[in-house]
Amino acid sequence: MRQLVQGLIAILLLSLSSLSYAQCDGLIPDLRELADEGDMNLGFAVNNSDINNPDLLAILLANGNMVVPANALKFGPIHPERDVYNFSSADQIVALAQANSMTVRGHTLVWHLQAPAWLDPTSGWLDLTPQWRERWTRDELIEVMRDHIHTVVTHYRENFPGVITQWDVVNEAFRADGSRRPTIWQQVIGDDYIELALRFAREADPDVKLYLNEFYDSSVSLGEFALGRDPTYENSLGASAVRSDCSDVPRCAAVRALATDFVQRGVPIDGIGFMGHHFIFNDDWPFPADYESLAGWTKSLGLSWALTEVDVGLRANVVGTPEQERDQGLRFRKMVRACTRAENCDTVVFWALTDAVHWQRDQGFWDGATLIRDNGEPKPAYWNVYGTLYRAFLSSTTSVPDQGLSAIYNEASKPTK
Ligand code: G3I
Repeated sequence: MRQLVQGLIAILLLSLSSLSYAQCDGLIPDLRELADEGDMNLGFAVNNSDINNPDLLAILLANGNMVVPANALKFGPIHPERDVYNFSSADQIVALAQANSMTVRGHTLVWHLQAPAWLDPTSGWLDLTPQWRERWTRDELIEVMRDHIHTVVTHYRENFPGVITQWDVVNEAFRADGSRRPTIWQQVIGDDYIELALRFAREADPDVKLYLNEFYDSSVSLGEFALGRDPTYENSLGASAVRSDCSDVPRCAAVRALATDFVQRGVPIDGIGFMGHHFIFNDDWPFPADYESLAGWTKSLGLSWALTEVDVGLRANVVGTPEQERDQGLRFRKMVRACTRAENCDTVVFWALTDAVHWQRDQGFWDGATLIRDNGEPKPAYWNVYGTLYRAFLSSTTSVPDQGLSAIYNEASKPTK
């Protein structure tokens, strides 16, 4: 009899995997419930247009307990003129989080892209001409950075206390070969701009967690390719596919060296964000060993790590095959599982709510990179994440029998048509 009941539940759960998100509502725990159970921050990057769309908002509220403004907190949107701050878009997202007992990852204070023209007329093209490099002296640009960080961080600490719990203080400071990316900050201020940025952020908020956010693995990250113009990207394409230690990955080694120095000298830093932008056609992607290594070295420094921008792209303009979606699901699963298994990882953020609103839809490098289809239907990747969180946090405490969930979990990783 018990086997019959479990079998029936397994069939019910299996059938859910082909239903739309709304059809599943109330039948099984949502991702948010699972994440809350595990005290894990599970987030989605959003733009204001997403949260103003009722269908997307419903997906966000059911599945996330953290929100990341994908663009609204960046330098250009929030600080469009030297003496003008425009908080309205970011405030809308942070207020939504506050009203729904969610936290926010602040992304990002210092980056080369999406900079306002008054600051960097090349918009992050990196090859500042002497004319523009001379636009700022080191002292002036340090003052610009100090004002920006103090103003933005203080605005959120005072107006939305405790809602922003983590800041990406500096974003993408290194190139794939481990050298410093020649941003305006690097070229004008010099190597100590990262340390200064962390100190300014700590001055503005003594409690918020301060992160450096970086492409982790390697070498072959489509996110970086799409953002473009990093010559070391192409040079690294032929590099060895499987790497298992930070020392083998020049950018990781550089981040580790910097973080080690900061910890030893008492520069304020709480964690490293590793983005997790991937593509199913690359062999070089983070195998679990990569993340075990990551968890090990950050832990030895007393730091946290987070998966901050997870997506796994399929080719643009081509419908993913069941095999490709299975592969995609496994990659999501392995990344999320690496975090749930690590003592010092408590945050995973997916870089868009659904395929329809992923930023690459309009850019055309890749597509289909999220957990949920355009029509709201969960993909195999969603069920892989679901199963991973369920197994990590709930399997001993809920009435949903593990056998039933295993059916979804395993089935989700097989071709379904
Ligand atoms: O806001 C303007 C709008 O006024 C204008 O009409 C429109 C015309 O193209 O552009 C809008 O700006 C766009 C912006 O997104 C907001 O939608 C930019 O063109 C577009 O380049 C920008 O793309 C963002 C991208 O970073 C580049 O800055 C993506 O939305 C954002 O998701 C992406 O996120 C980055 C992370 O911040 C850092 N890590 C990599 C990641 C991309 O994989």
